[in-house]
Amino acid sequence: MKIISVVGARPNFMKIAPFIKAIKDHNLQASETIDHILVHTGQHYDDRMSTAFFEALEIPPADINLEIGSGSHAEQVGNTMIAFEKVLLEEMPEWVVVVGDVNATLACSVAAKKLHIKVCHIEAGLRSGDIKMPEEVNRLVTDRLSDLLLTPDRISIENLKQEGTSPERISFVGNIMIDTLETHRERAAAYSINEIIENNQLEGFKREVGNEDYAVVTLHRPSNVDEKEILIPIVNFLLEEVTTEMPILWPVHPRTRKNLEDFGLWEKISEHPEMIMLHPLGYHEMLRLNMEAKIMITDSGGLQEECTILGTPCLTLRWNTERPITLKEHGGASVLVGNHIQKIREEYLKTLTSEKKVVVPELWDGKTAQRCLDAILNFQSE
Ligand code: UD1
Repeated sequence: MKIISVVGARPNFMKIAPFIKAIKDHNLQASETIDHILVHTGQHYDDRMSTAFFEALEIPPADINLEIGSGSHAEQVGNTMIAFEKVLLEEMPEWVVVVGDVNATLACSVAAKKLHIKVCHIEAGLRSGDIKMPEEVNRLVTDRLSDLLLTPDRISIENLKQEGTSPERISFVGNIMIDTLETHRERAAAYSINEIIENNQLEGFKREVGNEDYAVVTLHRPSNVDEKEILIPIVNFLLEEVTTEMPILWPVHPRTRKNLEDFGLWEKISEHPEMIMLHPLGYHEMLRLNMEAKIMITDSGGLQEECTILGTPCLTLRWNTERPITLKEHGGASVLVGNHIQKIREEYLKTLTSEKKVVVPELWDGKTAQRCLDAILNFQSE
């Protein structure tokens, strides 16, 4: 059997690493081996956004890099489809495996289906209900086209059924990103927080963290960082209300860095002694910071999940989430606070007195990748 799996952007790497490991393990034992080709669309291309993750997570170098890079959504998706179609025509795999909800996920599933190649979507069925979110468009289209939909939780199964997906195409496998977390937890724990700061601090920032509490901030969603009117109050809240309690460690996404500079906020942040601005971090470094953080302030989907497993109170700067299982009402660690400062403040104050509470949702057990591969191997076409 020939499988092409696809990655494009940073959150994909943690999801593909265990799947590739499962194929490798299969090939060591099985009589019929799997011919696996890894395609990187090149949506994320910086060393810190891409190469560093391949190395840290021991992902073999991509067999093919489409080198798509930045661009508008249509450019990214269109260019990926054109380049990926050529790969498909050359290789004609039985399966294309896509993960998550980035532009590569959408582009490659469409290109594959147009050539009648079976598509498997790992992390299927997540829905935020917010069609303005680019990832929601990617999720809807990918799931509509996929032959095999592998879900991280039972809520996602219901979402798919409500949309009319036939149950035979759906399999509940658990959360594959947690496989990566469990594999790397021990290694991450060995990192020193201050070494992480020292090695990743942006020029001009000098501050260590003692035995004190700290907050971690990550923001990259266009809805939070692209408009001045939204980003400025968030930054002011961090500077004026969070830093009075504890230092903030903020690994800055390239999109956010650019906007902070364009909106004239960078200098103000850089001069603040409690703001520890960092490059985008590697996998182990980020996991380590999360393990000890007093609070996570983020708009990332993956971090909401990791906070649930690690028990870190998480303020999610979004109005909705495609991962409701991570919310407090479902037992998780995250609270939706949108970008309304009063709401953010209220929930922030509550977390100051809350303790870490670890929750492990069903099948988030570190064995999801094997279930994904089994589902593909056992798949019966209708
Ligand atoms: C993408 C994903 C999002 C995911 C996020 C994680 C889509 C629609 N969005 O958003 O789901 O949560 O990645 O990071 O696929 N840039 C660099 N270096 C890089 C990559 C990007 O400088 O290695 C710059 C680009 O030039 C661009 C900006 O960052 O200006 C945004 O990159 P882009 O890939 O368009 O989307 P993300 O916001 O990263």
